[in-house]
Amino acid sequence: MPPGVKVRCSERSSGSAPADLLLSRPFCKILNINNLSNAMKVTVVGAGNVGATCADACARWELANEVVLLDIKEGFAEGKSLDIWQTAPISLFDSRITGSTNDYSKTANSDVVVITSGLPRKPGMSRDDLIATNAAIVKSVTENVVKHSPNAIIIVVSNPLDVMTYCAFLTSKFPANRVFGMAGILDTARYRAFLATELNVSPKDIQAVLMGGHGDTMVPLPRYTTVGGIPVTELIAEDKLNAIVERTKKGGGEIVNLLGTSAWYAPGTAAAQMVEAIVRDQKRVFPCCVWLQGEYGLKDVYMGAPVILGRNGVERIIELKLTKEEQELCNASAKAVKEVMDVLDKMNNVPA
Ligand code: NAI
Ligand code: 2OP
Repeated sequence: MPPGVKVRCSERSSGSAPADLLLSRPFCKILNINNLSNAMKVTVVGAGNVGATCADACARWELANEVVLLDIKEGFAEGKSLDIWQTAPISLFDSRITGSTNDYSKTANSDVVVITSGLPRKPGMSRDDLIATNAAIVKSVTENVVKHSPNAIIIVVSNPLDVMTYCAFLTSKFPANRVFGMAGILDTARYRAFLATELNVSPKDIQAVLMGGHGDTMVPLPRYTTVGGIPVTELIAEDKLNAIVERTKKGGGEIVNLLGTSAWYAPGTAAAQMVEAIVRDQKRVFPCCVWLQGEYGLKDVYMGAPVILGRNGVERIIELKLTKEEQELCNASAKAVKEVMDVLDKMNNVPA
């Protein structure tokens, strides 16, 4: 590397990586640094707002040699992927991205499959209102994924997130380390962005973790929030921090009210960051929606908790020492998720 040159590798800094340690895509080309993960194949099901954003990031960040975007709507995924591919000469990537109208043979032997198919929220709807429609979609999509990519890792994005992840888990019969959901990265990103605005600092320097279901019962943990290593509580008044926590809990609804549909840039990018951790075997520590089997005293529930993500998917669930109050909030969140899981079980949308 030319001495004294500050360059970045992937156009963005994720989590805690200092930006000046990263090399820019053009510099990587000049320096002949190969960013491509070896012979990886990533499929994104659902070419709507979230899916197309995720596929775009997977291709632009060169997370796989092959990115397949699939949708049930005729020509939709083909059109979106062609548009994304036409950014390749501008953004300088060579991951091949192609589209498919419901032909899963094109997705065969994917290493990672991101499921974003399903209805988004409209104003006045909760995530749980989507359960019947989206469970049927997630179930049929998962069946196809299992048939064509039996060794894949599945990342679920469709809402209601925790219950749709459970649906994919039951349908796939994959081990739980290969079926998990995206919500925590999005929720902490919102929290970190709000804090960055309030404190007028770079969002790159804010580290945070939260737990619980993806909804109003999510459990932000300000005790574990730091700004450049400094506990956030030393930098912000308690009432302002509480207001940010409350805004984070309703962060999805805030965007639904502004746009008339749910968010996509942050959710799609968050899902791509999970794909990156897996295909590059990064061992990143992220909050993800995972199958708890006794961790935190909770059993048989899909819920957000901090994990290590690597080539084997969820490689470890990290157990934090919670205060009594934090544990009670987690218990309440798990109870709320379980109630919706029960609705799914009763709907007979998934095998018992
Ligand atoms: P969208 O409506 O833009 O896209 C959904 C796509 O799924 C559509 O293109 C539709 O044709 C496709 N689809 C429907 N049934 C399908 C099937 N059987 N097979 C393949 N494709 C199918 O919706 P958007 O905004 O992309 O949201 C997608 C899902 O992600 C929603 O359920 C939304 O609530 C959820 N979401 C979850 C977040 C999270 O944090 N986990 C954040 C944001 C959205
Ligand atoms: C979000 O949090 C609606 O789950 C979606 O933006």
